[in-house]
Amino acid sequence: MRVHVAFTPAEAARVPTGIVVDVLRATSTIVQALESGYERVLCCAEVEEARALREETQDAVLAGERRAVRIESFDFGNSPQDFLEPKAATLILTTTNGTRAIVEAAADCDVVLVGSLLNLEAVASRARERGEDVEVVCAGVAGEFALDDAYCAGRIAELLGGKRTDAAEAAVRIARSFPTAEEGLRTSLNPVDRSIEDDIVWCARENMVDVVPRFTSMRGSAAEIVGR
Ligand code: MLT
Repeated sequence: MRVHVAFTPAEAARVPTGIVVDVLRATSTIVQALESGYERVLCCAEVEEARALREETQDAVLAGERRAVRIESFDFGNSPQDFLEPKAATLILTTTNGTRAIVEAAADCDVVLVGSLLNLEAVASRARERGEDVEVVCAGVAGEFALDDAYCAGRIAELLGGKRTDAAEAAVRIARSFPTAEEGLRTSLNPVDRSIEDDIVWCARENMVDVVPRFTSMRGSAAEIVGR
C-alpha cells in the first residue's frame, strides 16, 4: 500500500482511496455532525449552490463560513460545536476550503473518506482495511500549504503504515516535531481569526469518535457524505 500526502488539492492525483483533511475546521465539523446524528452532509463549493440546495431540500439546515465568519442568513457557521445534536436530517455545508476539497476529491478517488483528529484512528483503520493506495489530501488555505492540515495528515499517514512517499514522510516528520496536537494546530498561521480559539482546542482532541464519513454520490454539484 502506497501512502501519499497531497499538501494542497492541486497536488492530488487519481488514487483508489482519498482522505480529505481540513482539520480547522470543515472536516472536524463534518465528523462531529455525523457522529451527533445528522444523516448526511451535503458539501458545496459555492455559497449560491448551498442556498439553492436548501430551497429544494426538506428537513435541512444551512451552514458555512467565508473567512471563518458565518455566511449571512445561514443557520450556522462552521464550528463543530454547533453540531453536537442534530437539528435536521441533512446538513448543507459550504466552507472556504474544506468542502471544495471534498468535491474535488470526489472526482478523483474511488473512495473518499473524511479525516480529522477527532476520528484519527478510525479513519486510518478504515483506509488500511481497504489495502489499496491512499492519498491524504490537505485542503490547505486558498490553494496553499497549511501547517494544521499537514500536521493532521502526518498523524494519519503514520497510522496507515505502508510505503510512504517523500511527501508522506515529510508530513509524518512535521507531526512528530510537535509535542501535542494542540501545538500542531496552533502553530499554523492559518487560524489567525481568534474567534475560533475554542474550536482549535476542540478540534485538537484525538480519537473522540469512531465515525468515518465517506462520500456516496453527487447531488447536483454537491458531494453527499454519510457516516454509517
Ligand atoms: C475552510 O474550509 O477553509 C475552513 O473550514 C475554514 C474555517 O475554519 O471555518
